[in-house]
Amino acid sequence: MAEGKVHIFDTTLRDGEQVPGCKLNTTEKLELALQLEDLGVDIIEAGFPVSSPGDFESVSQIAKTIKNATICGLTRAVQKDIEVAAQALKYAVRPRIHTGIGTSDLHIKAKFNSTREEILKRAIQCVKWARNFTDDVEFYAEDAGRTDNDYLARVVEAVIKAGATVVNIPDTTGYCLPYQYGEKISYLINNVSNIEKAIISCHCHNDLGLATANSIAGVIAGARQIECTVNGLGERAGNTSLEEVAMIIKQHKDLGLYTTIKSEKLNPISRLVSDTMRMPVQPNKAIVGSNAFSHSSGIHQDGFLKDAQTYEIMNPEEVGADSSKIVLTARSGRSALAYRFQKLGFQFDRNDIDVLYNEFVKVADSKKEVEDGDLTSIAKKYQSKVAIA
Ligand code: KIV
Ligand code: ZN
Repeated sequence: MAEGKVHIFDTTLRDGEQVPGCKLNTTEKLELALQLEDLGVDIIEAGFPVSSPGDFESVSQIAKTIKNATICGLTRAVQKDIEVAAQALKYAVRPRIHTGIGTSDLHIKAKFNSTREEILKRAIQCVKWARNFTDDVEFYAEDAGRTDNDYLARVVEAVIKAGATVVNIPDTTGYCLPYQYGEKISYLINNVSNIEKAIISCHCHNDLGLATANSIAGVIAGARQIECTVNGLGERAGNTSLEEVAMIIKQHKDLGLYTTIKSEKLNPISRLVSDTMRMPVQPNKAIVGSNAFSHSSGIHQDGFLKDAQTYEIMNPEEVGADSSKIVLTARSGRSALAYRFQKLGFQFDRNDIDVLYNEFVKVADSKKEVEDGDLTSIAKKYQSKVAIA
């Protein structure tokens, strides 16, 4: 049985950077790599060195600078790619080459006009090439999500025999359902004779919004590495979101798993990535969205003010977010209104609040959110009326 540590493989600088408009220069990549290391990720996929001189330079600078995390470079199953990646990773304390090829029948036919047997040979060959440069070689079976399990097991067994130490099972198109992805991982564990010699990695895309669920199904089934990105950035609908898997594993102690992510750094790094990549985070994004700890309906606010745990399963401080917010809208109730008046320095009793509430809903109906300035003017008007009467 695999132990409980789940390795976090961050690919913000590679798969995340593939998002149109998110291109980074070397200085930006280096700054993000330093913050990712500080966050506690185990592996940083720094780029695809053969793809451009700029990417080569970024991987090379990151490899020279980062001392604790493993630095990984992506390649195709092409000798030149592997040699260039090895060159870029030359000064890394812990270099990893990530090489692989498409294994689904669709990729084999449409992309390579090849056969399963030929692809199997290329898979073995690329791992052997990579092993000439480093002991840490990860093999990816692209489109494993749609690859026949029997054939996938043959490929995985063969690449482990050739020296792969990590086998990545990407759901490249985000097609799998969580139970199917979990079964795929179980199938490999039960049918690949040398599977204990490698770590199984989940690399799930989010085309159907299932990337996080699939990655978690993968580790429940026995995978011990998750490939993910800050804010879930990545090709098309993105990758598995780092902050989501880190917090699911942290919150669900029942899974018996852990990561080395320092959760209080999740919101700061989310903001840094968002600013550097000029890619806003949707307000309702789990863990790092601006509304992740906002309460706006009367029922929720009342419960939250009595005991925060009624509507929050984690403290905002635990993930480095600003403290919880009570947002006043037309759906808010009297408890929240009294609370906000109190925060602004106004002391009102229950009868006052009943009257003030009527004034508040009139304003709330005409606005999306009632701000401190609105509340102050409602309170002051009320106080002067009471003083005259
Ligand atoms: O989605 C994918 O299959 C990939 C591989 C290159 C690992 O990004
Ligand atoms: Zn990917």
